[in-house]
Amino acid sequence: MKAVRIHNFGPTEDVLQFEEVPTPEPGPGELLIKVEAASLNRADLGLRSGNYRVAPEDLPIIPGREFAGRVTKLGDGVSDFQVGQRVVAYTGTGGYAEYAKAKVSEVRPLPDGLDAAAAAAIPTVFLTAWFALMEEGKLKSGEWLLVQAGSSGVGIAAIQIGKHAGAKVVTTTSGDEKARRLRQLGADAVINYTQADLVAEGRRATGNRGFDVVLEMIGGEVYQKSIEVLAPAGRLVSIGGAFGKIPDTPPALTDERTASRFSITNYLKAQPEGFKQLDVALQWVRDGKFQVVIDRSFPLAETRAAQRFLEGRDHFGKIVLIP
Ligand SMILES: NC(=O)c1ccc[n+]([C@@H]2O[C@H](COP(=O)([O-])OP(=O)(O)OC[C@H]3O[C@@H](n4cnc5c(N)ncnc54)[C@H](OP(=O)(O)O)[C@@H]3O)[C@@H](O)[C@H]2O)c1
Repeated sequence: MKAVRIHNFGPTEDVLQFEEVPTPEPGPGELLIKVEAASLNRADLGLRSGNYRVAPEDLPIIPGREFAGRVTKLGDGVSDFQVGQRVVAYTGTGGYAEYAKAKVSEVRPLPDGLDAAAAAAIPTVFLTAWFALMEEGKLKSGEWLLVQAGSSGVGIAAIQIGKHAGAKVVTTTSGDEKARRLRQLGADAVINYTQADLVAEGRRATGNRGFDVVLEMIGGEVYQKSIEVLAPAGRLVSIGGAFGKIPDTPPALTDERTASRFSITNYLKAQPEGFKQLDVALQWVRDGKFQVVIDRSFPLAETRAAQRFLEGRDHFGKIVLIP
């Protein structure tokens, strides 16, 4: 089969090799899936450079945290799925390929009528935004939520989950067109941080109160400003520092404000049953209650161009590979 592999870590997309590799064999408790679509995530860029959960001795490796397609083979002892069934898988690696294997515990069935590209774009962003907001952030109806980087995959999911939870949602972005689209997705207010000061605008938007929950993923100055806009008893949930440093240990804050770090990988390791929350998202998307925004699809052979596009600033939502 054709797949994209990394043989050596490196800072650019040049380390991605599109090549012929053996088709994987599903072991006991595993499925082989013919991949119809795989989605890109920012963690793939960290994996590429050797900074995300893969050690040099694990190379060569096929990246790709999540994908959707059809079951083609069952490993020993698999009775929950059938050959021919359409599924979505959240494996952490292996998705940039024509075929990929997954453990039964990493797979959910697709509802009829759900497109493979949309399904592949859901697990990371939905599960991260859901558990970061609802469990870590304890977001409640009527509260003020600030979602940093609204146009990111996680941001678009978080805005919609925030509205579903009954929160008043403010988000940030760098351009007027992105801001217009974020309002269409349900954001009550959008701060263009290239034109307005986040702290002043955030205070103004909330009637000088500040935010009850802030979902932050940029780092550096944005992390600091996210603390400044917290209301008393507000919760800052940081899911990473894609573009700046975040403290290893979140700072202690005054007035019952808290700051914490959240990782969906660590969360699901500790609470594996949480993975079934994905079924809710799949149904919502099928029923038109939740939008998956796919900016562009690339053929698998053009994975380098797809990652280059992800690294830039021009995309809005998710990027998908089609084998
Ligand atoms: N902890 C977890 O479990 C977890 C899980 C998934 C993702 N994440 C993290 O969540 C973040 C978002 O991931 P994603 O895949 O959804 O992101 P993404 O789709 O690649 O979006 C990134 C967006 O960030 C915005 N941005 C803000 N400041 C920026 C800067 N200085 N340089 C470049 N872009 C900037 C840009 O939008 P504007 O131009 O509109 O600002 C950009 O499009 C990443 O930090 C990722 O590592 C964490």
